[in-house]
Amino acid sequence: MTRFGIIGGGLMGHGIAVALAQAGHRIVVYDADPVTLASLDERIVRALERCDTPPGDVGMMTARITAAKTLADLVLRVDVVIEAVPERLDVKHQVLAALEEKIPAVMPVWSNTSVLSLTEVAKDMRHPQRLVGVHWWNPPYVIPLVEVAPGAETDHRFVQEACDMLDGMGKTTVRLHRDVRGFIGNRLQFALVREALHLLEQGVCDPGTIDTVMRTSLGLRWSAVGPMENADFIGLDLTRDILDSLAPHLSVAVTFPALDKPLSAGHRGRASGGGLLAWPAGQGEEVA
Ligand code: NAI
Repeated sequence: MTRFGIIGGGLMGHGIAVALAQAGHRIVVYDADPVTLASLDERIVRALERCDTPPGDVGMMTARITAAKTLADLVLRVDVVIEAVPERLDVKHQVLAALEEKIPAVMPVWSNTSVLSLTEVAKDMRHPQRLVGVHWWNPPYVIPLVEVAPGAETDHRFVQEACDMLDGMGKTTVRLHRDVRGFIGNRLQFALVREALHLLEQGVCDPGTIDTVMRTSLGLRWSAVGPMENADFIGLDLTRDILDSLAPHLSVAVTFPALDKPLSAGHRGRASGGGLLAWPAGQGEEVA
């Protein structure tokens, strides 16, 4: 049993706490926002119920997660600290600076950043060798994958230790050789999003059609076969021919009018009642 401290009890922080509790660990969560902290228990119970936890186990797992009112309280009782604060470099720097004043130099620190450079996240740390990128997918208690990556100064023993712990929890852990923005999953995901927006902007189809194509073909296929395996299946010669023909036409865009247009009308997506598709208002931010 390891004692984890999580800084930031929002969408990911509370989800990671649940995933760790499911594996038998103890977790302390600190959030700067008292309202978020006050709703922690309720959100944890909801998450456990969502993954059909037997009612008898809900209480046991909830008891493994406690809230800390201050960062000083959090660090008193932990072996590993996870930062899950907003995806802003200044916020991460401020949190890590405050944290390092309170913990020993050897304590591992995991960052849940999605797309920031780990090297930049660790830039002002006194002990950057302990900062490991540990990228969970939402919801962390459902999605098996956790991506683990070093920053430029990370000591690989901390990376190995993180992988061992996550493997021990039954997660599917992948280890990246080096720091890359977006890890692997978000690189692949957003390459696809960029091409989808390109198709919209070219007037090829409407947004719903893109989702239908994905759900009824690639989505099914790619749950069983990865793109590398798929390239071997169809043959590298054919893969090469297809890429030679398609590559000049694929998007390399760095601006996205298909997003800017709904955004300028106040349509941020499902939670705002409108986005690329039409949504009833007030459905919340959580993914399906
Ligand atoms: P969120 O906004 O739901 O939660 C962040 C929490 O941090 C908030 O509750 C906020 O009150 C708290 N916070 C802000 N400043 C703080 C401070 N100085 N000290 C303590 N708490 C503070 O954000 P979310 O979505 O949970 O993202 C957190 C991190 O996880 C980000 O780096 C994000 O990129 C990453 N991530 C997000 C995923 C997602 O699907 N939302 C998936 C994977 C990673």
